Amino acid sequence: MEDFLAFEVTQTENVFSRGIVQKQLGVLKKDQVRVQVEYSDINYKDALAASKNSGVVSDYPKVIGIDLAGTIIATNAENWAIGQKVLVTGYGLGVSEDGGFSQIQDVPAEWLVELPDDLTTKDAMKFGTAGFTAALAVQALAKETPETNSPILVTGATGGVASTAVALLHQLGYTNITALSSKKEQAGWLIDLGATDIKTPEEILPEKKRPLGKQKFAAVFDTVGGEIFAGLLPLIQYNGCAVLCGNASGITLETTVLPFILRSIKMIGIDSVEVEMAQRKPVWQFLAEHKSVLEQLSYQEVDLTDLDETIEALLNGTHSGRTIVDLGGKK
Ligand SMILES: NC(=O)c1ccc[n+]([C@@H]2O[C@H](COP(=O)([O-])OP(=O)(O)OC[C@H]3O[C@@H](n4cnc5c(N)ncnc54)[C@H](OP(=O)(O)O)[C@@H]3O)[C@@H](O)[C@H]2O)c1
Repeated sequence: MEDFLAFEVTQTENVFSRGIVQKQLGVLKKDQVRVQVEYSDINYKDALAASKNSGVVSDYPKVIGIDLAGTIIATNAENWAIGQKVLVTGYGLGVSEDGGFSQIQDVPAEWLVELPDDLTTKDAMKFGTAGFTAALAVQALAKETPETNSPILVTGATGGVASTAVALLHQLGYTNITALSSKKEQAGWLIDLGATDIKTPEEILPEKKRPLGKQKFAAVFDTVGGEIFAGLLPLIQYNGCAVLCGNASGITLETTVLPFILRSIKMIGIDSVEVEMAQRKPVWQFLAEHKSVLEQLSYQEVDLTDLDETIEALLNGTHSGRTIVDLGGKK
């Protein structure tokens, strides 16, 4: 049997460990395909999955990694053939089933998206779950707020999801994008991505909390949640919307019903994990059509041996940009 390497997390009552392990191929189950993984990428959820008592992973040991892209090398599923290029994000990958930080991985065929013609496996993982989430949310925002001169606010702007969203909104023609970021030093980069104004939370949020404030934004694209998002809800214009994708600053939302019943605003939740397959394919096609945004976003590339260090950086807040993982599959 062929051996391959993977990054595995193990936890028992007394012992927690993570690191590279040697695995052996088993029998490919019915309705599964075997993928030679070329690239994966690292999300905050992966860093949590690699932590003790995270609650992310359903059972141990588990190969983590919520995204993968590569080539099918064996198939036990109808409609999938050896040699096809595929990607998987979300579902149970790296959570309930072994994930993408592996040179070879067996995955349920129903999770597969065929790689769009214009994307390489590396491009796909540069986007990864962050880019896919950004695209889902940008499409929802554009549907609600089609006028491209509408004032849009994007929170947590230097993050993976939000920076991709700023670049995508710019490509769609939006001309009035405020990037909310605590990192003023990144203003130049955010402007290059397509933001027209950069603000810190302190500059935007009123000192005194009120249920309704001055109407400033037609749409808020939010990745941070918590107090920041609560402070922004009263600033959304009549008939405006908020698209919620993340909780980088907290999960609680203290608000009143007034922005909803007096300004008729909408809140739209975005989930990238369980979103149905019929929606995934066009979203990946949309990303393929806008792949030039990848040239503006910042990436670093690591291999399995660097994963531990990157996970630590994500957990202690020193990680920046997006990191893709080269699994060595034949590209
Ligand atoms: N809905 C989904 O399916 C889905 C999918 C992927 C990710 N997410 C979630 O979306 C969020 C963003 O993900 P990401 O991959 O873009 O993360 P990320 O790269 O770590 O970026 C998060 C950004 O939020 C800001 N931030 C971080 N900590 C903060 C704090 N304590 N208070 C206020 N702002 C803070 C920072 O931006 P600035 O310094 O520029 O303000 C940071 O760059 C996360 O909560 C993630 O779990 C959800």
